[in-house]
Amino acid sequence: MSSLTYADYLRMETLLSLQEPRTPDSASRAVVLAEQFFIITHQSCELWLKQIGADLDAAAEALVPPCDTSDLELSFEFLLRTGEILRVLQDQLRALEKLSLRYFAEFRPFLDTASGAQSTQFRRLTGLLGNDHHPGSLYEAFVAAAEYHGQSVHDVCRRGVECGVLHRIAEALLEIGNGYWHWKVAHLALVSKMLGDHDGTGGSSGVDFLARRVTRPFPELRRLRGKVHHC
Ligand code: HEM
Repeated sequence: MSSLTYADYLRMETLLSLQEPRTPDSASRAVVLAEQFFIITHQSCELWLKQIGADLDAAAEALVPPCDTSDLELSFEFLLRTGEILRVLQDQLRALEKLSLRYFAEFRPFLDTASGAQSTQFRRLTGLLGNDHHPGSLYEAFVAAAEYHGQSVHDVCRRGVECGVLHRIAEALLEIGNGYWHWKVAHLALVSKMLGDHDGTGGSSGVDFLARRVTRPFPELRRLRGKVHHC
């Protein structure tokens, strides 16, 4: 009788075959390993984005009326997890700061026009979280859930812990919003170290372009929280 192994369960053979540096074999081992480090960081970031996307979809669905307290608690659990994963993603960017600049410069031409700006999972995350100009779908779901429970978001911010799980959800959303914001700043810091004032492989101006894209999710929630000072 065969029993499932760790390697089979995690599809290890397939997983570990997915890192294919484009640096030619004639290059030094250090350059190939630097490119592998670059690929692994990006791939693991995309894996976490897969989890975040699914968790935030589930969190938003649990907020759709009619949502009872246990739906709200479930949504809160998904949101807490996303907050933690965003911290992991930020740490990964910090690890990538240990990419040697001279080896990066050697393998970078092989990236051609490939760029993180083409990440569909990241774009989707931005749509869920929203930015300084428009609320994302997650915030809209939260507003609907609060209204269903007879509260406005302003009430939730003003009354705080008295609002129970709605208050905890509001806090978790802000945690996620700041986690996303910190990720963008950490990415900007990394790019500034690695590229200086060079253009990106995706054709943007690099650091200047990215600096303009450091946006803050949940602006309305921040504004309403700020109003508490005037109550
Ligand atoms: C040495 C490391 C890195 C460099 C030099 C770098 C560089 C850049 C540059 C220049 C851009 C702007 C678009 C372009 O012209 O290409 C960009 C965008 C982006 N990169 Fe990176 N990146 C690095 C690491 C990463 C990692 C590890 C991730 C994780 C998946 C990532 C994800 C993204 C995303 C999502 C965008 C779009 C950001 C936005 O829409 O505001 N990058 N990157």
